[in-house]
Amino acid sequence: MSVKIPIYMDYQSTTPVDPRVLEAMLPYFTEVFGHPASRNHSFGWDAEQAVDVAREQVAKLIGATAKEVIFTSGGTEAINLAIRGVAEMYGEKGRHMVVAVTDSRPVHDVVKRLVREHQYEVTEVPVDKEGRVSADAVKAALRPDTILISVMMANNEIGTVQDMVAIGKVAKEAGVLLFSDATEAVGKVPVDVQEMGIDLLAVTAHKMYGPKGVGALYVRRRNPRVRLSAQIDGGGHERGMRSGTLNVPGVVGMGKAAELCMQEMPEESARMGVLRDHLENGILAGLDEVQVNGSREHRLPHNLNISFAYVEGESMLMGLKEIALASGSACTTATLEPSYVIRALGVSEELAHSSLRFSIGRFTTEEEVEYVIGRVVETIQRLREMSPLYEMAKEGVDLSQVQWSAH
Ligand SMILES: Cc1ncc(COP(=O)(O)O)c(C=O)c1O
Repeated sequence: MSVKIPIYMDYQSTTPVDPRVLEAMLPYFTEVFGHPASRNHSFGWDAEQAVDVAREQVAKLIGATAKEVIFTSGGTEAINLAIRGVAEMYGEKGRHMVVAVTDSRPVHDVVKRLVREHQYEVTEVPVDKEGRVSADAVKAALRPDTILISVMMANNEIGTVQDMVAIGKVAKEAGVLLFSDATEAVGKVPVDVQEMGIDLLAVTAHKMYGPKGVGALYVRRRNPRVRLSAQIDGGGHERGMRSGTLNVPGVVGMGKAAELCMQEMPEESARMGVLRDHLENGILAGLDEVQVNGSREHRLPHNLNISFAYVEGESMLMGLKEIALASGSACTTATLEPSYVIRALGVSEELAHSSLRFSIGRFTTEEEVEYVIGRVVETIQRLREMSPLYEMAKEGVDLSQVQWSAH
C-alpha cells in the first residue's frame, strides 16, 4: 500500500477534527443556533442543554463534576485564567509560586509577567534527566507565602508524564493550590483530578480531535472551593469566571471529542504505543549516535523525541519536507534557541539543537511509520556523510578537546 504525501506526524501540535466530532457540531451552526444564556425561549434552552451535555462529557474525562468545568477559548486562556485568577484572588496571602522548569511556555510567560509587574516571586523546580519532577523537590521549594504550584501533567516536547498523585499529596499537605497544564495529557492518558489532588487544570480541544479555539478550565468546588478573579468581565457567564457568549459548536465538539477519548483511550493508547515503539526501534536500528529524550517508562504513548548527533534540527526538517515534524528548537525565535525543555534534562546545547519530535495519532498508519523510518534513516545518513564533525568523531577524535581556530 502506498502512503499519501505529506505525512502528518505532528499530532502534539494539533490534531485534525474527528469526523464524528464534526458531525456532532454541524447542527449547532445553523439549526440549533440559540444563545445558551437566553433563558426565555426554546432556542436558548436547546443550546444550553447541548452545552450542559458537553460539560458533563468533559468533566467525566477528568474525574470532575460538570459544575467545575469552565469553558474558555482554549488552553492558553485557561492557563491565564487559572494563574492570574489565583494571583489576584489570593495575592494577599502570599506572592510566591512554584513552577516546574519544563512547564509550558504560556505558564512561564504568565508567571513572568506577575514577577515583572506585580512583585511575585517564583521558584523553578528542576527535573531529572528523564524530565520528571520529584514531589520532594516541589516540597522543598514551598514557602509560607506560596499560593500556587504549577506542574504540567505531560510534556509537549518529550512526552514525560509526571507523578501527579505524589505531587498532589504534597500540595494538599501544605494547603497550597495545585494547577496543571494538562493540554497534552487529557484524552491520551487517564486523568482524575480527585486522585491527583489537582485544584485547577487546563484542557484544550484541538489536541484531542476537537476543534481549535475552545478549551476548558477545571476549577475545584470542594476541599477546597477555589475562587478565581475573572480575567474577562461581561455578562457573568460561566459562573462569573469567564464572560462572553460561548462558542456552542466548539463546546459541543469538545464534549464529543472527550466522549470519544473516554471510550477509546485504552485501545487507542495501546495502538499508539505499538506504532511509536516500532518507529523508535526502526530509527534506532538504522542509525548510531542517536538518543531518545525523556522517559521510556513514563511517556505519552504517541510521543517520540530523538536527538541525532552531528546533524542540525533545521537541516533535518528541510531534508524531510514531506513529513510534518517538530524540531526541538524554538524555531519561531530569530535566534533559533535550543529547546529549554531538552536543555533542562542536562542534554548539551548541540544535541538539543539536533532533536526532532515525532508525534503520531488516531489516523497514523503502519505504512506511514514504515515510510518515515526509511526516510529518516536515509536523510540522517546523507547529512552525516556531509558532516566533518561526524567523520572526526568516527575517526576517534575527541571533539570536546579540539581547539577550533577562526583562521
Ligand atoms: C502544553 C501546552 N499548553 C498550552 C497550549 C495552548 O493551548 P491553545 O492552543 O488551545 O491555546 C498548548 C498548545 O498549543 C500546549 O501544547
